[in-house]
Amino acid sequence: ATTRHEAETSPSVCTGSLDSNYPGFSGSGFCNGVNAAGAYAQFTVNAPAAGTATLRVRFANGTATARPAALLVNGSTVQTPSYEATGAWSTWATKTLTVQLNAGGNTVRLNPTTAAGLPNVDYLDVEVAGPAAGLPS
Ligand code: GCU
Ligand code: CA
Repeated sequence: ATTRHEAETSPSVCTGSLDSNYPGFSGSGFCNGVNAAGAYAQFTVNAPAAGTATLRVRFANGTATARPAALLVNGSTVQTPSYEATGAWSTWATKTLTVQLNAGGNTVRLNPTTAAGLPNVDYLDVEVAGPAAGLPS
């Protein structure tokens, strides 16, 4: 099952402004983080059981330079992916990341590590394994 977490919808947090001036976003807008290291976007995600989850971050980076951001799960950095140039602020791309989640609530934070800050962030999709075929949900 996949659950979408819009960057502009509480309890998501955007250290910046919620904008809608470039088309192609999902929901009502996207997070335009302040251009600074540490200006994060955070999502609260629920997992039915502890285990592996697939994250898909939808983003746009209209500059020529990739923007790295630490990926923190429940406060710990698990990797630091870089969000490449997408060619325009209205061109959105999806970055797929694999993490381990706890059962219940988890925080997922994208924390930029350079002064450029984050790309614009549209949403985080979280896919967790469903019940095995034939078993009750
Ligand atoms: C531009 C663009 C913003 C973007 C920003 C950035 O100002 O309009 O949407 O967030 O560049 O470089 O982060
Ligand atoms: Ca920005």
